[in-house]
Amino acid sequence: MVPSFLDMEFFVRFILVLLNIVAIIIEPIVVWLNGEEKKKIPAAKNPLINLSANEVIYRIRHGELKSEEIVKVYIDRIKEVNPYLNAVIEDRYEEAIKDAKRADNMMEIVAPEQRAPLFSRYPLLGLPFTVKESCALKGMSQVVGNIHRKDYRANDNGKSIELLRAAGAIPLLVSGNPEFCMSWETSTHLFGKVKNPYDTRRTPGGSSGGEGALNGAGASLFGVGSDIAGSIRIPALYNGIFGHKPTGHLMSIKGHFPNSIDPNMGRYLQVGPMTRFAQDLPILTAVMAGDEAAKMDLTTRVVTKDIKIFYMDSNGFTLTHKPVDFDIRLAIMKAVAYFKKSGCQTEKADIRNMSNAIEISMSTLLTLKDVPSILVDPKGDPNEKDNIYAELLKNFVGKPKYTYQAIFLELFMNMRGFMSETSIQYWKETSDEVRDSIIKLLGDNGVLLFPTFHRPAPFINTSIQNLAGVGFVAIANSCGLPATHVPMGLNKEGLPIGFQVIAAPYKDKLCMQVAAELESAYGGWVPPY
Ligand SMILES: *[C@@H]1O[C@H](CO)[C@@H](O)[C@H](O)[C@H]1NC(C)=O
Ligand SMILES: *[C@@H]1O[C@H](CO)[C@@H](O)[C@H](O)[C@H]1NC(C)=O
Ligand SMILES: *[C@@H]1O[C@H](CO)[C@@H](O)[C@H](O)[C@H]1NC(C)=O
Repeated sequence: MVPSFLDMEFFVRFILVLLNIVAIIIEPIVVWLNGEEKKKIPAAKNPLINLSANEVIYRIRHGELKSEEIVKVYIDRIKEVNPYLNAVIEDRYEEAIKDAKRADNMMEIVAPEQRAPLFSRYPLLGLPFTVKESCALKGMSQVVGNIHRKDYRANDNGKSIELLRAAGAIPLLVSGNPEFCMSWETSTHLFGKVKNPYDTRRTPGGSSGGEGALNGAGASLFGVGSDIAGSIRIPALYNGIFGHKPTGHLMSIKGHFPNSIDPNMGRYLQVGPMTRFAQDLPILTAVMAGDEAAKMDLTTRVVTKDIKIFYMDSNGFTLTHKPVDFDIRLAIMKAVAYFKKSGCQTEKADIRNMSNAIEISMSTLLTLKDVPSILVDPKGDPNEKDNIYAELLKNFVGKPKYTYQAIFLELFMNMRGFMSETSIQYWKETSDEVRDSIIKLLGDNGVLLFPTFHRPAPFINTSIQNLAGVGFVAIANSCGLPATHVPMGLNKEGLPIGFQVIAAPYKDKLCMQVAAELESAYGGWVPPY
Protein backbone atom coordinates (compact mmCIF):
# COMPACT_ATOMS: atom_id res chain seq x y z
CA MET A 1 0.00 0.00 0.00
CA VAL A 2 1.53 3.30 -1.10
CA PRO A 3 0.42 6.07 1.25
CA SER A 4 0.90 8.99 -1.07
CA PHE A 5 1.10 9.60 -4.76
CA LEU A 6 4.33 9.11 -6.76
CA ASP A 7 5.62 6.87 -3.95
CA MET A 8 7.04 9.77 -1.95
CA GLU A 9 5.97 11.96 0.93
CA PHE A 10 4.53 15.10 -0.55
CA PHE A 11 5.10 17.43 2.41
CA VAL A 12 8.57 16.14 3.12
CA ARG A 13 9.57 16.70 -0.49
CA PHE A 14 7.83 20.05 -0.53
CA ILE A 15 10.02 21.17 2.37
CA LEU A 16 13.12 19.95 0.54
CA VAL A 17 12.12 22.00 -2.53
CA LEU A 18 11.51 25.03 -0.30
CA LEU A 19 14.94 24.59 1.30
CA ASN A 20 16.51 24.37 -2.15
CA ILE A 21 14.89 27.67 -3.08
CA VAL A 22 15.85 29.27 0.25
CA ALA A 23 19.42 28.15 -0.38
CA ILE A 24 19.59 30.02 -3.70
CA ILE A 25 18.37 33.25 -2.09
CA ILE A 26 19.86 33.04 1.41
CA GLU A 27 23.31 31.54 0.92
CA PRO A 28 24.96 34.54 -0.76
CA ILE A 29 23.38 36.84 1.85
CA VAL A 30 24.60 34.73 4.78
CA VAL A 31 28.13 34.60 3.37
CA TRP A 32 28.08 38.36 2.81
CA LEU A 33 26.65 39.09 6.28
CA ASN A 34 29.26 36.88 7.87
CA GLY A 35 31.90 39.04 6.22
CA GLU A 36 34.78 36.96 7.61
CA GLU A 37 37.96 36.35 5.69
CA LYS A 38 39.02 32.86 4.75
CA LYS A 39 41.86 31.98 7.12
CA LYS A 40 44.40 29.21 6.84
CA ILE A 41 45.51 27.33 9.92
CA PRO A 42 49.26 27.24 10.63
CA ALA A 43 51.21 24.22 9.36
CA ALA A 44 52.26 21.51 11.79
CA LYS A 45 56.01 21.76 12.31
CA ASN A 46 56.68 18.62 14.32
CA PRO A 47 57.06 15.54 12.06
CA LEU A 48 55.66 13.30 14.86
CA ILE A 49 52.23 14.70 13.92
CA ASN A 50 52.46 12.61 10.75
CA LEU A 51 52.72 9.26 12.55
CA SER A 52 49.66 7.02 12.54
CA ALA A 53 48.50 5.43 15.81
CA ASN A 54 50.03 2.14 14.65
CA GLU A 55 53.38 3.85 14.08
CA VAL A 56 53.20 5.55 17.48
CA ILE A 57 52.45 2.17 19.09
CA TYR A 58 55.48 0.68 17.35
CA ARG A 59 57.81 3.45 18.49
CA ILE A 60 56.57 3.42 22.08
CA ARG A 61 57.01 -0.36 22.26
CA HIS A 62 60.52 -0.15 20.91
CA GLY A 63 61.49 2.59 23.32
CA GLU A 64 61.91 5.09 20.46
CA LEU A 65 59.20 7.45 21.68
CA LYS A 66 57.82 8.36 25.07
CA SER A 67 54.13 8.80 25.72
CA GLU A 68 54.87 12.13 27.41
CA GLU A 69 56.49 13.42 24.23
CA ILE A 70 53.65 12.49 21.89
CA VAL A 71 51.03 13.76 24.35
CA LYS A 72 52.84 17.13 24.57
CA VAL A 73 53.21 17.33 20.78
CA TYR A 74 49.43 17.05 20.43
CA ILE A 75 48.68 19.46 23.28
CA ASP A 76 50.92 22.07 21.59
CA ARG A 77 49.30 21.45 18.22
CA ILE A 78 45.80 21.84 19.67
CA LYS A 79 46.80 25.11 21.35
CA GLU A 80 48.19 26.31 18.03
CA VAL A 81 45.07 25.62 15.94
CA ASN A 82 42.20 26.01 18.38
CA PRO A 83 42.10 29.84 18.12
CA TYR A 84 41.19 29.29 14.45
CA LEU A 85 38.78 26.38 14.99
CA ASN A 86 37.09 26.88 18.39
CA ALA A 87 36.77 23.09 18.61
CA VAL A 88 37.72 22.50 22.27
CA ILE A 89 35.00 22.53 24.95
CA GLU A 90 37.19 21.54 27.91
CA ASP A 91 40.71 20.13 28.19
CA ARG A 92 42.54 17.99 30.75
CA TYR A 93 46.09 18.62 29.57
CA GLU A 94 47.72 18.49 33.01
CA GLU A 95 46.07 15.20 33.96
CA ALA A 96 46.94 13.83 30.51
CA ILE A 97 50.64 14.58 31.04
CA LYS A 98 50.44 12.78 34.40
CA ASP A 99 48.76 9.81 32.68
CA ALA A 100 51.54 9.82 30.08
CA LYS A 101 54.24 9.79 32.77
CA ARG A 102 52.51 6.82 34.39
CA ALA A 103 52.46 5.00 31.04
CA ASP A 104 56.19 5.71 30.50
CA ASN A 105 56.91 4.59 34.03
CA MET A 106 55.12 1.32 33.43
CA MET A 107 57.36 0.75 30.40
CA GLU A 108 60.42 1.32 32.55
CA ILE A 109 59.51 -0.94 35.46
CA VAL A 110 58.54 -3.85 33.24
CA ALA A 111 61.47 -6.02 32.20
CA PRO A 112 61.96 -6.31 28.41
CA GLU A 113 60.69 -9.92 28.38
CA GLN A 114 57.50 -8.76 30.11
CA ARG A 115 56.78 -6.12 27.47
CA ALA A 116 54.67 -8.41 25.28
CA PRO A 117 52.14 -9.22 28.03
CA LEU A 118 52.12 -5.52 29.02
CA PHE A 119 51.16 -4.51 25.48
CA SER A 120 48.52 -7.17 25.06
CA ARG A 121 47.02 -5.91 28.32
CA TYR A 122 47.33 -2.25 27.15
CA PRO A 123 47.26 -2.28 23.33
CA LEU A 124 46.99 1.54 23.13
CA LEU A 125 49.40 2.34 25.97
CA GLY A 126 50.28 6.04 26.10
CA LEU A 127 48.37 7.15 22.97
CA PRO A 128 46.64 10.55 23.18
CA PHE A 129 43.12 10.94 21.76
CA THR A 130 40.21 13.38 21.72
CA VAL A 131 36.53 12.82 22.51
CA LYS A 132 33.30 14.34 21.23
CA GLU A 133 31.59 15.90 24.24
CA SER A 134 28.37 13.85 23.80
CA CYS A 135 30.28 10.56 24.18
CA ALA A 136 30.89 11.10 27.94
CA LEU A 137 34.35 11.52 29.41
CA LYS A 138 34.11 11.12 33.16
CA GLY A 139 34.25 14.37 35.12
CA MET A 140 34.33 16.49 31.96
CA SER A 141 31.73 18.79 30.42
CA GLN A 142 28.76 17.06 28.77
CA VAL A 143 26.57 20.08 28.08
CA VAL A 144 25.93 19.18 24.42
CA GLY A 145 25.05 22.79 23.62
CA ASN A 146 21.86 22.96 25.70
CA ILE A 147 21.05 25.66 28.24
CA HIS A 148 19.37 23.22 30.65
CA ARG A 149 22.58 21.18 30.79
CA LYS A 150 24.85 24.17 31.40
CA ASP A 151 27.86 23.10 33.53
CA TYR A 152 26.70 19.45 33.41
CA ARG A 153 29.54 16.92 33.79
CA ALA A 154 29.64 13.26 32.80
CA ASN A 155 29.30 11.00 35.87
CA ASP A 156 31.01 8.18 34.10
CA ASN A 157 32.87 7.30 30.94
CA GLY A 158 30.83 6.24 27.93
CA LYS A 159 31.36 2.52 27.35
CA SER A 160 33.73 2.92 24.36
CA ILE A 161 35.69 5.62 26.16
CA GLU A 162 36.02 3.29 29.15
CA LEU A 163 37.39 0.57 26.85
CA LEU A 164 39.89 2.97 25.25
CA ARG A 165 41.09 4.09 28.68
CA ALA A 166 41.35 0.50 29.85
CA ALA A 167 43.54 -0.13 26.78
CA GLY A 168 45.92 2.60 27.96
CA ALA A 169 44.87 5.51 25.70
CA ILE A 170 44.91 9.03 27.18
CA PRO A 171 42.07 11.50 26.55
CA LEU A 172 43.14 15.13 26.10
CA LEU A 173 39.83 16.96 25.87
CA VAL A 174 36.17 16.97 24.95
CA SER A 175 35.29 18.68 21.67
CA GLY A 176 32.36 20.64 20.28
CA ASN A 177 29.03 19.31 19.10
CA PRO A 178 25.72 21.03 18.22
CA GLU A 179 22.78 21.23 20.61
CA PHE A 180 21.63 17.65 21.34
CA CYS A 181 23.74 16.62 18.30
CA MET A 182 20.83 17.86 16.20
CA SER A 183 22.58 19.55 13.31
CA TRP A 184 25.10 19.00 10.53
CA GLU A 185 27.01 22.04 11.61
CA THR A 186 28.53 22.74 15.00
CA SER A 187 27.41 26.14 16.28
CA THR A 188 25.82 26.67 19.69
CA HIS A 189 24.83 29.74 21.68
CA LEU A 190 26.88 28.48 24.63
CA PHE A 191 30.18 27.76 22.87
CA GLY A 192 30.04 29.62 19.54
CA LYS A 193 30.75 28.18 16.13
CA VAL A 194 33.32 25.53 15.33
CA LYS A 195 35.15 26.20 12.06
CA ASN A 196 36.57 24.15 9.23
CA PRO A 197 40.40 23.96 9.03
CA TYR A 198 40.29 24.03 5.19
CA ASP A 199 38.31 27.28 5.15
CA THR A 200 37.38 28.94 8.42
CA ARG A 201 34.25 30.49 6.87
CA ARG A 202 32.85 27.00 6.40
CA THR A 203 31.41 24.49 8.83
CA PRO A 204 33.36 21.40 9.91
CA GLY A 205 29.98 19.63 9.75
CA GLY A 206 28.26 17.86 12.59
CA SER A 207 27.43 16.55 14.84
CA SER A 208 31.01 15.35 15.52
CA GLY A 209 32.21 18.74 14.22
CA GLY A 210 34.85 19.39 16.87
CA GLU A 211 36.46 16.01 16.19
CA GLY A 212 36.26 16.61 12.43
CA ALA A 213 38.01 19.98 12.75
CA LEU A 214 40.74 18.78 15.15
CA ASN A 215 41.53 15.63 13.19
CA GLY A 216 41.47 17.46 9.84
CA ALA A 217 43.88 20.04 11.28
CA GLY A 218 46.31 17.32 12.40
CA ALA A 219 45.58 18.15 16.04
CA SER A 220 44.47 14.71 17.21
CA LEU A 221 46.05 11.28 16.84
CA PHE A 222 42.51 9.92 16.68
CA GLY A 223 39.06 10.99 17.80
CA VAL A 224 35.87 9.40 19.06
CA GLY A 225 32.65 10.57 17.41
CA SER A 226 29.05 9.37 17.24
CA ASP A 227 26.68 8.95 14.30
CA ILE A 228 22.86 8.65 14.19
CA ALA A 229 22.35 10.25 10.78
CA GLY A 230 25.82 10.87 9.40
CA SER A 231 27.37 12.61 12.41
CA ILE A 232 30.74 10.85 12.00
CA ARG A 233 30.80 10.60 8.21
CA ILE A 234 29.68 14.14 7.30
CA PRO A 235 32.43 15.80 9.40
CA ALA A 236 34.86 13.19 8.04
CA LEU A 237 33.96 14.35 4.50
CA TYR A 238 34.11 18.07 5.31
CA ASN A 239 37.50 17.74 7.06
CA GLY A 240 39.16 15.22 4.77
CA ILE A 241 39.59 12.34 7.24
CA PHE A 242 38.39 8.75 7.68
CA GLY A 243 35.37 8.09 9.88
CA HIS A 244 33.83 4.72 10.62
CA LYS A 245 30.18 4.23 11.60
CA PRO A 246 30.13 0.64 12.88
CA THR A 247 27.43 -1.99 12.35
CA GLY A 248 24.33 -1.22 14.42
CA HIS A 249 24.65 -2.53 18.01
CA LEU A 250 28.40 -3.24 17.61
CA MET A 251 29.35 -0.50 20.07
CA SER A 252 27.60 0.04 23.34
CA ILE A 253 26.18 3.57 23.40
CA LYS A 254 25.99 3.64 27.18
CA GLY A 255 26.71 7.10 28.51
CA HIS A 256 26.03 8.91 25.25
CA PHE A 257 23.81 11.98 25.34
CA PRO A 258 21.23 12.15 23.86
CA ASN A 259 20.15 8.57 24.26
CA SER A 260 16.88 6.68 24.69
CA ILE A 261 15.75 3.50 26.39
CA ASP A 262 14.40 2.27 23.05
CA PRO A 263 16.18 -1.00 22.17
CA ASN A 264 16.51 0.20 18.55
CA MET A 265 18.57 3.23 19.57
CA GLY A 266 21.84 1.29 19.30
CA ARG A 267 20.92 0.06 15.85
CA TYR A 268 20.80 3.64 14.55
CA LEU A 269 23.20 5.43 16.88
CA GLN A 270 26.80 4.25 16.94
CA VAL A 271 30.01 5.55 18.42
CA GLY A 272 33.07 5.25 16.18
CA PRO A 273 36.65 6.33 15.40
CA MET A 274 37.66 9.38 13.33
CA THR A 275 41.24 9.55 12.07
CA ARG A 276 43.62 10.74 9.37
CA PHE A 277 44.91 7.18 8.97
CA ALA A 278 42.77 4.37 7.51
CA GLN A 279 45.24 1.74 8.73
CA ASP A 280 44.31 2.66 12.33
CA LEU A 281 40.57 2.00 11.95
CA PRO A 282 40.64 -1.77 12.70
CA ILE A 283 42.53 -1.58 16.00
CA LEU A 284 40.51 1.42 17.20
CA THR A 285 37.19 -0.16 16.24
CA ALA A 286 38.20 -3.43 17.88
CA VAL A 287 39.18 -1.81 21.17
CA MET A 288 36.04 0.36 21.26
CA ALA A 289 33.77 -2.62 20.54
CA GLY A 290 35.13 -4.70 23.46
CA ASP A 291 33.78 -8.26 23.51
CA GLU A 292 31.59 -7.59 20.48
CA ALA A 293 34.70 -7.11 18.32
CA ALA A 294 34.91 -10.89 17.72
CA LYS A 295 31.79 -10.60 15.55
CA MET A 296 33.79 -8.64 12.98
CA ASP A 297 36.30 -11.48 12.54
CA LEU A 298 39.09 -8.98 11.91
CA THR A 299 41.88 -11.54 11.83
CA THR A 300 40.85 -13.30 8.61
CA ARG A 301 41.75 -11.02 5.77
CA VAL A 302 39.87 -10.93 2.48
CA VAL A 303 42.01 -11.00 -0.65
CA THR A 304 41.46 -7.74 -2.55
CA LYS A 305 40.45 -9.33 -5.82
CA ASP A 306 37.72 -11.26 -4.00
CA ILE A 307 35.99 -8.07 -2.90
CA LYS A 308 33.03 -7.27 -5.12
CA ILE A 309 32.66 -3.54 -5.77
CA PHE A 310 29.17 -2.14 -6.28
CA TYR A 311 28.69 1.55 -6.78
CA MET A 312 26.02 4.23 -7.08
CA ASP A 313 26.90 7.85 -7.66
CA SER A 314 23.48 9.30 -6.82
CA ASN A 315 20.40 8.22 -4.91
CA GLY A 316 18.18 8.35 -7.95
CA PHE A 317 16.86 11.22 -9.97
CA THR A 318 14.26 13.33 -8.27
CA LEU A 319 13.48 17.02 -8.53
CA THR A 320 13.71 17.44 -4.77
CA HIS A 321 17.28 16.23 -4.37
CA LYS A 322 20.33 18.19 -5.35
CA PRO A 323 22.70 16.61 -7.85
CA VAL A 324 25.88 15.07 -6.48
CA ASP A 325 28.97 17.26 -6.93
CA PHE A 326 30.95 16.26 -10.02
CA ASP A 327 34.25 15.83 -8.13
CA ILE A 328 32.59 13.41 -5.71
CA ARG A 329 31.17 11.34 -8.57
CA LEU A 330 34.56 11.40 -10.26
CA ALA A 331 36.21 10.14 -7.04
CA ILE A 332 33.81 7.17 -7.03
CA MET A 333 34.64 6.45 -10.68
CA LYS A 334 38.39 6.60 -9.92
CA ALA A 335 37.97 4.11 -7.09
CA VAL A 336 35.90 1.77 -9.28
CA ALA A 337 38.57 1.88 -12.00
CA TYR A 338 41.27 1.24 -9.40
CA PHE A 339 39.58 -1.89 -8.04
CA LYS A 340 38.77 -3.13 -11.53
CA LYS A 341 42.50 -2.96 -12.28
CA SER A 342 43.17 -4.88 -9.05
CA GLY A 343 41.08 -7.74 -10.43
CA CYS A 344 37.83 -7.04 -8.56
CA GLN A 345 34.45 -7.50 -10.08
CA THR A 346 32.75 -4.08 -10.34
CA GLU A 347 29.10 -3.39 -11.00
CA LYS A 348 26.79 -0.39 -10.95
CA ALA A 349 24.08 -1.11 -8.38
CA ASP A 350 20.45 -0.23 -8.69
CA ILE A 351 18.92 -0.41 -5.23
CA ARG A 352 15.22 0.28 -5.19
CA ASN A 353 13.86 2.94 -2.86
CA MET A 354 17.25 4.63 -2.32
CA SER A 355 15.64 7.86 -3.54
CA ASN A 356 13.31 7.58 -0.54
CA ALA A 357 16.23 7.66 1.88
CA ILE A 358 14.92 10.81 3.59
CA GLU A 359 11.47 9.34 4.21
CA ILE A 360 13.00 6.06 5.35
CA SER A 361 15.50 7.55 7.77
CA MET A 362 12.99 9.98 9.19
CA SER A 363 10.42 7.29 9.83
CA THR A 364 12.93 5.03 11.58
CA LEU A 365 14.00 7.90 13.83
CA LEU A 366 10.36 8.83 14.46
CA THR A 367 9.58 5.40 15.81
CA LEU A 368 12.20 5.74 18.57
CA LYS A 369 10.59 6.14 21.97
CA ASP A 370 11.51 8.60 24.73
CA VAL A 371 13.92 10.79 22.81
CA PRO A 372 14.63 13.80 25.09
CA SER A 373 13.46 17.30 24.11
CA ILE A 374 15.76 20.33 24.01
CA LEU A 375 12.93 22.44 25.46
CA VAL A 376 12.50 20.64 28.78
CA ASP A 377 14.57 21.28 31.90
CA PRO A 378 15.45 17.79 33.22
CA LYS A 379 15.75 19.21 36.73
CA GLY A 380 12.26 20.77 36.59
CA ASP A 381 8.70 19.70 35.80
CA PRO A 382 8.80 17.30 32.81
CA ASN A 383 5.51 18.71 31.54
CA GLU A 384 6.83 22.23 31.44
CA LYS A 385 8.13 23.02 28.02
CA ASP A 386 9.17 26.26 26.32
CA ASN A 387 7.06 27.23 23.33
CA ILE A 388 8.87 25.99 20.28
CA TYR A 389 7.64 28.69 17.88
CA ALA A 390 8.47 31.52 20.27
CA GLU A 391 11.94 30.05 20.76
CA LEU A 392 12.43 29.73 17.01
CA LEU A 393 11.48 33.38 16.53
CA LYS A 394 14.00 34.47 19.15
CA ASN A 395 16.77 33.24 16.86
CA PHE A 396 15.91 36.01 14.47
CA VAL A 397 14.65 38.72 16.86
CA GLY A 398 15.72 38.69 20.47
CA LYS A 399 17.98 36.59 22.59
CA PRO A 400 17.80 32.91 21.61
CA LYS A 401 17.96 30.10 24.18
CA TYR A 402 18.08 27.23 21.71
CA THR A 403 19.77 26.94 18.31
CA TYR A 404 17.46 27.22 15.31
CA GLN A 405 18.96 24.05 13.82
CA ALA A 406 17.90 21.94 16.82
CA ILE A 407 14.51 23.67 16.99
CA PHE A 408 13.94 22.99 13.29
CA LEU A 409 14.65 19.28 13.72
CA GLU A 410 12.62 19.01 16.92
CA LEU A 411 9.71 20.73 15.17
CA PHE A 412 10.03 18.27 12.32
CA MET A 413 9.92 15.39 14.82
CA ASN A 414 6.94 16.89 16.70
CA MET A 415 5.07 17.15 13.40
CA ARG A 416 5.91 13.47 12.85
CA GLY A 417 7.77 14.58 9.70
CA PHE A 418 4.43 15.76 8.24
CA MET A 419 3.63 12.08 7.67
CA SER A 420 0.62 10.03 8.67
CA GLU A 421 1.19 7.09 11.04
CA THR A 422 0.37 4.75 8.11
CA SER A 423 3.07 6.41 6.07
CA ILE A 424 5.60 6.14 8.85
CA GLN A 425 4.84 2.43 9.14
CA TYR A 426 5.08 2.04 5.37
CA TRP A 427 8.51 3.68 5.20
CA LYS A 428 9.69 1.70 8.21
CA GLU A 429 8.81 -1.49 6.34
CA THR A 430 10.47 -0.14 3.21
CA SER A 431 13.57 0.41 5.31
CA ASP A 432 13.63 -3.31 6.16
CA GLU A 433 13.21 -4.10 2.48
CA VAL A 434 16.08 -1.83 1.50
CA ARG A 435 18.20 -3.42 4.22
CA ASP A 436 17.39 -6.91 2.97
CA SER A 437 18.12 -6.03 -0.63
CA ILE A 438 21.46 -4.40 0.23
CA ILE A 439 22.49 -7.39 2.37
CA LYS A 440 21.52 -9.79 -0.41
CA LEU A 441 23.35 -7.75 -3.02
CA LEU A 442 26.57 -7.30 -1.01
CA GLY A 443 26.72 -10.74 0.58
CA ASP A 444 29.90 -11.73 2.42
CA ASN A 445 32.39 -10.02 0.14
CA GLY A 446 30.64 -7.02 -1.38
CA VAL A 447 30.86 -3.29 -0.67
CA LEU A 448 28.85 -0.36 -1.98
CA LEU A 449 30.66 2.86 -2.91
CA PHE A 450 28.11 5.62 -2.36
CA PRO A 451 28.28 9.42 -1.85
CA THR A 452 28.55 10.54 1.79
CA PHE A 453 26.85 13.81 0.91
CA HIS A 454 26.09 15.61 -2.33
CA ARG A 455 28.67 18.35 -1.75
CA PRO A 456 31.78 19.37 0.20
CA ALA A 457 31.66 21.66 3.28
CA PRO A 458 29.07 24.46 3.05
CA PHE A 459 29.38 27.88 4.66
CA ILE A 460 28.43 28.26 8.33
CA ASN A 461 24.68 28.87 8.79
CA THR A 462 23.73 27.21 5.51
CA SER A 463 23.60 23.56 6.51
CA ILE A 464 19.83 23.21 6.98
CA GLN A 465 19.29 24.08 3.33
CA ASN A 466 21.29 20.96 2.48
CA LEU A 467 18.97 18.65 4.43
CA ALA A 468 18.33 16.42 1.39
CA GLY A 469 21.98 15.28 1.48
CA VAL A 470 21.43 13.58 4.82
CA GLY A 471 19.58 10.78 3.00
CA PHE A 472 22.91 9.45 1.71
CA VAL A 473 24.36 8.85 5.17
CA ALA A 474 21.20 8.11 7.15
CA ILE A 475 20.30 5.06 5.09
CA ALA A 476 23.22 3.15 6.70
CA ASN A 477 21.91 4.09 10.17
CA SER A 478 18.35 3.04 9.37
CA CYS A 479 19.59 -0.27 8.00
CA GLY A 480 22.21 -0.83 10.74
CA LEU A 481 25.00 -1.21 8.17
CA PRO A 482 28.69 -0.37 8.71
CA ALA A 483 30.02 2.54 6.64
CA THR A 484 33.40 4.27 6.37
CA HIS A 485 33.97 7.69 4.87
CA VAL A 486 37.08 7.76 2.64
CA PRO A 487 38.78 11.08 1.79
CA MET A 488 39.84 11.33 -1.88
CA GLY A 489 41.81 14.56 -2.08
CA LEU A 490 40.76 18.18 -2.49
CA ASN A 491 38.63 19.93 -5.13
CA LYS A 492 39.80 23.03 -6.96
CA GLU A 493 38.66 25.26 -4.09
CA GLY A 494 40.87 23.26 -1.74
CA LEU A 495 37.98 21.51 0.02
CA PRO A 496 38.11 17.79 0.85
CA ILE A 497 35.95 15.41 -1.19
CA GLY A 498 35.34 11.67 -0.88
CA PHE A 499 32.62 9.06 -0.46
CA GLN A 500 31.51 6.27 1.85
CA VAL A 501 31.98 2.50 1.66
CA ILE A 502 29.04 0.46 2.97
CA ALA A 503 29.03 -3.28 3.73
CA ALA A 504 26.70 -5.93 5.16
CA PRO A 505 26.30 -6.17 8.97
CA TYR A 506 29.51 -7.10 10.83
CA LYS A 507 31.50 -6.79 7.59
CA ASP A 508 33.11 -3.61 8.97
CA LYS A 509 36.49 -4.99 7.97
CA LEU A 510 35.58 -4.76 4.27
CA CYS A 511 34.81 -1.03 4.62
CA MET A 512 38.08 -0.50 6.46
CA GLN A 513 40.14 -2.58 4.04
CA VAL A 514 38.78 -0.72 1.00
CA ALA A 515 39.46 2.55 2.83
CA ALA A 516 43.08 1.53 3.53
CA GLU A 517 43.70 0.49 -0.08
CA LEU A 518 42.30 3.76 -1.39
CA GLU A 519 44.45 5.60 1.16
CA SER A 520 47.61 4.03 -0.23
CA ALA A 521 46.49 4.54 -3.84
CA TYR A 522 45.25 8.15 -3.55
CA GLY A 523 46.99 9.57 -0.49
CA GLY A 524 44.14 9.75 2.06
CA TRP A 525 44.30 12.85 4.26
CA VAL A 526 45.75 15.95 2.58
CA PRO A 527 46.85 18.61 5.11
CA PRO A 528 44.87 21.88 4.99
CA TYR A 529 48.07 23.95 5.15
C1 LIG B 1 24.08 32.39 12.11
O1 LIG B 1 22.78 32.36 12.64
C2 LIG B 1 22.71 32.73 13.99
C3 LIG B 1 21.31 32.49 14.47
O2 LIG B 1 20.37 33.10 13.68
C4 LIG B 1 23.13 34.16 14.15
O3 LIG B 1 23.09 34.52 15.51
C5 LIG B 1 24.55 34.29 13.61
O4 LIG B 1 24.95 35.63 13.63
C6 LIG B 1 24.66 33.76 12.20
N1 LIG B 1 26.04 33.75 11.82
C7 LIG B 1 26.48 34.10 10.63
C8 LIG B 1 27.91 33.97 10.43
O5 LIG B 1 25.73 34.49 9.75
C1 LIG C 1 53.44 15.62 7.06
O1 LIG C 1 53.03 15.01 5.85
C2 LIG C 1 52.53 15.91 4.89
C3 LIG C 1 51.89 15.15 3.77
O2 LIG C 1 52.64 14.04 3.41
C4 LIG C 1 53.65 16.84 4.44
O3 LIG C 1 53.15 17.75 3.50
C5 LIG C 1 54.17 17.57 5.66
O4 LIG C 1 55.29 18.36 5.31
C6 LIG C 1 54.56 16.62 6.78
N1 LIG C 1 54.79 17.42 7.96
C7 LIG C 1 55.86 17.33 8.73
C8 LIG C 1 55.95 18.28 9.87
O5 LIG C 1 56.74 16.53 8.54
C1 LIG D 1 9.82 0.70 -2.72
O1 LIG D 1 9.49 -0.47 -2.02
C2 LIG D 1 8.14 -0.82 -2.11
C3 LIG D 1 7.92 -1.98 -1.21
O2 LIG D 1 8.09 -1.62 0.11
C4 LIG D 1 7.77 -1.12 -3.52
O3 LIG D 1 6.39 -1.45 -3.59
C5 LIG D 1 8.06 0.10 -4.36
O4 LIG D 1 7.80 -0.17 -5.71
C6 LIG D 1 9.49 0.53 -4.19
N1 LIG D 1 9.70 1.77 -4.88
C7 LIG D 1 10.62 1.92 -5.81
C8 LIG D 1 10.72 3.29 -6.40
O5 LIG D 1 11.34 1.02 -6.17
